[in-house]
Amino acid sequence: MFPIIATRQLSESVFETTVSAPAIAAKVRAGQFLILRVDEAGERIPLTFSDWSSDEGWVRFIFMRVGKTTHKLSHLAAGDALLDVVGPLGKPTHVGGLGRVAVVGGGVGAAVAYPVARAMAAAGDEVTVILGARNRELLILEDEFRALPLKELVVCTDDGSAGRKDLVTAPLKELCEAGAIDHAMAIGPAIMMKFCAATTRDFAVPTTVSLNPIMVDGTGMCGACRVSVGAKTLFGCVDGPDFDGHLVDFEELMSRQRVYADVEREAAADFESECACRIK
Ligand SMILES: Cc1cc2nc3c(=O)[nH]c(=O)nc-3n(C[C@H](O)[C@H](O)[C@H](O)COP(=O)(O)OP(=O)(O)OC[C@H]3O[C@@H](n4cnc5c(N)ncnc54)[C@H](O)[C@@H]3O)c2cc1C
Ligand code: FES
Repeated sequence: MFPIIATRQLSESVFETTVSAPAIAAKVRAGQFLILRVDEAGERIPLTFSDWSSDEGWVRFIFMRVGKTTHKLSHLAAGDALLDVVGPLGKPTHVGGLGRVAVVGGGVGAAVAYPVARAMAAAGDEVTVILGARNRELLILEDEFRALPLKELVVCTDDGSAGRKDLVTAPLKELCEAGAIDHAMAIGPAIMMKFCAATTRDFAVPTTVSLNPIMVDGTGMCGACRVSVGAKTLFGCVDGPDFDGHLVDFEELMSRQRVYADVEREAAADFESECACRIK
């Protein structure tokens, strides 16, 4: 069992959980993820480490409540425990020697962008962060990003309730046009990463994306997370989650993400009838 030592609600649908896991905390690097099970009856879900302390033996993740498992997770509190936490999984994000980098974090992708931007800055890269959300209420970790040694933090919201009223691709394009970046990293919904990669492609700015295909075992055995990258079929869990954004087949990724939509809807509906609060 993995004891939960703290929880925090960051917005109506986004939650943060800190779990005691000393052996995992000793090894995590930015960009890696874990797979957890809430209880015996639960499915395995992947979530990215948003922070950790090897000295204190804890790891933290941030998740959006989208279906049955994340809903169950959102009801747990300090003193409860998770049945399994496996990790760190996946390859760490490449940091250092990148030069001037734009790290784009969209929605809950900000939780992954945070340790990545921190690690890049610590490795000597000059980091501009572009944070995007639909509105102010959904914007997360702004204070944490402001505390990092960044070149700049650009905040965008779709409705203009915080920062610029723009999509993240607008400031990204401006940086490309100004010749101000050598590399881009985009983390968020597949559609956002697709358009970030399309933006930087025109300027030949190398772009890394952190993909989130459906995962089951997380060890390269089941094939659930396969993604097409250029001429290759690769596995998100062991070859990624980071890939060259200019080579990823995003249409295939988005269609494979929806493969279990019917089952997920049924599970959410069943759970909703058992749970006192509503899932969405
Ligand atoms: C490497 C990786 C890192 C991720 N990191 C984060 C994170 O830090 N924060 C966060 O909020 N979300 C993250 N996700 C997505 C997260 O795993 C899903 O939101 C979660 O599994 C949904 O489960 P559910 O039962 O609540 O919802 P469901 O109703 O079961 O599913 C809702 C949607 O979530 C996705 N999903 C469902 N099951 C899986 C699965 N086993 N693997 C991958 N995606 C799935 C599908 O797109 C699905 O349509 C990550 C995914 C991957 C692959
Ligand atoms: S999750 Fe099974 S191969 Fe990647």
